[in-house]
Amino acid sequence: MSIDRLAMDQMTQPGLCIKTFGCQMNEYDSEKIVHLLAASHRLVESPEEAELIIVNSCSVRDKAEHKLFSLLGELRDLKESRPSVVLGVAGCVAQQEGQELLRRNSGVDFVVGTHNLSLIPALVQRARRGGERQVAVDFREEWEELPAAFSALELEGRTGVRALVAIQRGCSKRCTFCVVPTTRGEEVSRSAEEILREVRLKASLGAREVVLLGQTVNSYGRDLHPRASFAALIRRIAQIKGVERIRFTSPHPADVHSDFLDLYAEVPQLAPHIHLPVQSGSNRILRLMKRNYRRERYLQIVEELRNRSPQLAITTDIIVGFPTETDEDFALTLELLREVRYHSAFLFKYSPRPNTAALSRFSASEEVPPASAQARFQTLQEAQDEISLQHNASLLGRQVQVLVEGASNNIRSLLRGRIPQNTLCEFAGDSADIGSVVHVQVEHASAHGLRGNRLS
Ligand code: SAH
Ligand code: F3S
Repeated sequence: MSIDRLAMDQMTQPGLCIKTFGCQMNEYDSEKIVHLLAASHRLVESPEEAELIIVNSCSVRDKAEHKLFSLLGELRDLKESRPSVVLGVAGCVAQQEGQELLRRNSGVDFVVGTHNLSLIPALVQRARRGGERQVAVDFREEWEELPAAFSALELEGRTGVRALVAIQRGCSKRCTFCVVPTTRGEEVSRSAEEILREVRLKASLGAREVVLLGQTVNSYGRDLHPRASFAALIRRIAQIKGVERIRFTSPHPADVHSDFLDLYAEVPQLAPHIHLPVQSGSNRILRLMKRNYRRERYLQIVEELRNRSPQLAITTDIIVGFPTETDEDFALTLELLREVRYHSAFLFKYSPRPNTAALSRFSASEEVPPASAQARFQTLQEAQDEISLQHNASLLGRQVQVLVEGASNNIRSLLRGRIPQNTLCEFAGDSADIGSVVHVQVEHASAHGLRGNRLS
C-alpha cells in the first residue's frame, strides 16, 4: 500500500475521543483503550470531531462524579444531532453504577467496568451495528493482560518520555472513606515478567522515566505464588537499559519495611521523591479511617527515609473534615504538615462515598459542617503553599537537572520537565531536548513549580 493510500485511510477512519477523569491508573487505562482501538480509529481532541466517545470516569470524590454527569448530559445533546456517534463510559463510576448509568442517560451505548477493557472493541462494534445497549462490569480473578495493547507496533510513536506501568490492581485495605476497593476489586499483583516486558518495550521506544502504578505498591507480590517483593521488583527494573528514573505511586505507610527504605540508599535510578499519603495527623482519626499506622510511626518513616536520602522530596494526600474531626484533630494534622515540610500535598475535603464503612457508620450529626471543613481546608492549603514556595525558592539561582517531557501546558513555546524531586520546571529550549536531561538555571519559583534558563 502506498504512503498516500495509508494517509487516506487514516483520514477516513472514524475519530475517537477519550475524556479521562481521576488518577494515573485511569490515564494508564485510557492509554490502553487508545491502543486497543488505534488500528481502526484516529485520535481526535474534541467530541464534535468524534464518531466514538469514551469517558473514563472517576468516583473517588463526589465532585468528579458530578463533572461526569454534566459531561454526559452535554454528550447526549450532541448525540441528538448526530445519532451515529457511539458513547461508552468506562472506569470507576461505570463499575459502581453499571446498568443504572444506562437508565440515567439515554445517550450512553455501553458501560464497561475496570476489569473488562479487552471487551471494548466488541462493545463498539455491537453499538455500531445497532445492537442492544451493553453493560460489562463483571470482576475477574486474574490480571487482564492486553497483548495487543502492548506490542511495539501499537506503542510506536505513542510512548512518551514518562511511561506509566501498572504493577498492581485494586486494593484490599478498605480505608473507611474509600470507594476504590469496591470499584477496582481486591488487590491483585501483576506478574513480574509482564511488568518487566512492558518496561523494556517502553524503554526501547524512548521512555526514560518509569512510573509504577498501584494503590499500595509496596505490598506488591504478597498474593503471588511464589511470593514476590516490591523491593526486588525495583532492583530488577533498575537494571533495564534506558531507564534513568524510577518513580511509583503510591506506597502505604503500614507496609513500609527496611527492604523498602533501603531502596532509597541503594538504587541510584530511584528518584529522590516519595508520595506517601498520610490522610490525617490525629491518631484518633487515623484509627477511624482504618489506616493501620499511627502518627508517630509515620514520622519515624519520614526520618528514616531522610537519613537514607537527604535530598528526598516528600509529598502526600490529606483529607480534612472526616466525620467527628475536631479542632484538636485538625491542629495535629496542621502540625504534622509543618513538621514534615512536604514539597507539595493534595488536600481533599471528606466526601461520603457509596459502599464505604464511613458512610454507614457515621450519622449526619457526626459530620463536620461544610463551613468548618472549608475553613480547615483553606488553612491547610495556605500553610502548604508557603512551605512549597520555600522549597522551590531555595533553588533560585541554582542549576537543576530536568528530564524534558514535552511542551509546557501553560505556555506552548516553553518546554516542560521534572527535576529528580518531581517538581515541574519550564524553560525555553529546543524540541530536540525532549527525552534528555538538560541543565537549567532556576530564575523563578512559585508554590507550583520552577522556571529557568537552559544552560548549554
Ligand atoms: N491508595 C491510593 C489512594 C487512592 S485515592 C493511592 O495513594 O494511590 C487518592 C486520594 O484521594 C486518597 O489518598 C485520599 O486522600 C483521597 N480520597 C479518597 N477517598 C476520599 C473521600 N471519600 N473523600 C475525600 N478524599 C478522598
Ligand atoms: Fe483507598 Fe486506602 Fe486502598 S485510600 S485505595 S482503601 S489504601
